[in-house]
Amino acid sequence: MKLLEMKQITKRFPGVVALDKVDFDLERGEIHALVGENGAGKSTLMKILSGILKPDEGKIFLDGKEVTFNSILEAQSHGISMIHQELNLCENLTVAENIFLGLEENWNVSKKNLVRKAGELLKQLEFDIQPDKKVEELSVSEKQLVSIAKALSRKVKILIMDEPTATITEHEVKRLFEIMRDLKNRGISIIFISHRLDEIFEIADRVTVLRDGKKIGTGSLRDYDRDTIIQMMIGRKISEMYPKFNKCTEEVLFEVEEFSVPGYVEPLSFELRKGEIFGIAGLVGCGKSELALGLFGALKPHFKRMVLFGKEIKRLDSPLDALENGIIMVPEDRKTLGLVLELSVMKNIILPNTDIVSRFIKIDWKQSARIAERFVRQLNIKTPSIKQLVKNLSGGNQQKVVIAKYLVKKPRLAVFVEPTRGIDVGSKVEIYELMNHLANEGTGIIFISSELPEIVNLCDRVMVMHRGRMTALLEKDEISQENIMKAAVGVQVK
Ligand SMILES: Nc1ncnc2c1ncn2[C@@H]1O[C@H](COP(=O)(O)OP(=O)(O)O)[C@@H](O)[C@H]1O
Ligand SMILES: [Mg+2]
Repeated sequence: MKLLEMKQITKRFPGVVALDKVDFDLERGEIHALVGENGAGKSTLMKILSGILKPDEGKIFLDGKEVTFNSILEAQSHGISMIHQELNLCENLTVAENIFLGLEENWNVSKKNLVRKAGELLKQLEFDIQPDKKVEELSVSEKQLVSIAKALSRKVKILIMDEPTATITEHEVKRLFEIMRDLKNRGISIIFISHRLDEIFEIADRVTVLRDGKKIGTGSLRDYDRDTIIQMMIGRKISEMYPKFNKCTEEVLFEVEEFSVPGYVEPLSFELRKGEIFGIAGLVGCGKSELALGLFGALKPHFKRMVLFGKEIKRLDSPLDALENGIIMVPEDRKTLGLVLELSVMKNIILPNTDIVSRFIKIDWKQSARIAERFVRQLNIKTPSIKQLVKNLSGGNQQKVVIAKYLVKKPRLAVFVEPTRGIDVGSKVEIYELMNHLANEGTGIIFISSELPEIVNLCDRVMVMHRGRMTALLEKDEISQENIMKAAVGVQVK
């Protein structure tokens, strides 16, 4: 008998069917990966399993017996615990307090004893964390370990991990996987949500793919390959992953001579052609992000000459100067640099554009709504309405909101910095398509990315950087992952 069976689970939210008759099952001691684009319904399904949400329809069976959960505590009493994407620990309490918080049996235990108990548990798990430390002093990965310890203190049978690797380093991922294997060997079943397919192949036994609230399939990872899973996730062929239909011309649209960002980028010169997607690649720390910040005026650049659309740019001391010249940057860290999470989709799109929707000093909300609606449609932003708060959107859709707000005033030069990081495959393809369209409409496109496949497949030319210097400017057939890697470690390719 299966440890867990979820049958025909349906969950509706205003405007979306988040889950549509989804079946899911779990074996004992299995690591089961749950994958799908952002918005596919993974978190919702797991919130139902962990008692946070109630399904509109469907049944849950544990060891063959039907169960219903009215709260997180009820799910926990059946051995089900979830470690959330946004780790829900109390920052100002200690590790020990967090681990045992909410367990009734500990209400009368002294602080000292809590710390001792937590210390024993952490030691047994070989987690190197001080139990009396405040959680706010811990790193993300340490917080994750506290969440795991918290779940284990509750005699967990099913541990749900919602994108635990999204915000930790490669080294920490390795450690997390060791812990997961260890838990598995103790008979604990794990449901693992991740975007990264290589991780899934490394750690999981089976996989279930969701798309648009529907279950597409479940199977052993021995029977699936990467391409099949991607195809199931995005509902299209892998060859359609990197659409390229921009028409690169010979006409020079933007040129810089001896452009530098003191401390980060040594003087370099390049030009950008009309219709071109110009790539910039290089390892972490090579200066490519700083080059982007320099082009946007966020780091003060030096340059001998800069010409955009035939007009010489004299001053680029701030983002304001950049925007006035029609230069935009889609930033790397959309959560802190690009968006106000607590505001609606419309307000985020309108915020930097109030000058064009204002009459005297009043904002024309009707016009704002029209603009927002247009971009929601154009960029296929999946949101029930323009009034939805941005924090409730998936990563891919948040990224599209960032892009939308900069496109309201048609840019002349758009610098995209890691625009597809951490977002689902479907949104990635849409962002690639958007770059093609913008290029064809005459916007200069600079595409900075650490993902070599997207650089290789989308760019007409690629500048490679190493320690703040340009080590190659590759064209056509020269653009290969191998050449880029060579130049990125400082080997002169040409
Ligand atoms: N609390 C909520 N209110 C309204 N819509 C929601 C809520 N939670 C999720 N959704 C919507 O349900 C769908 C599935 O979301 P989610 O389960 O978070 O997807 P995933 O975790 O696969 O990215 C999305 O369209 C999302 O916008
Ligand atoms: Mg999710």
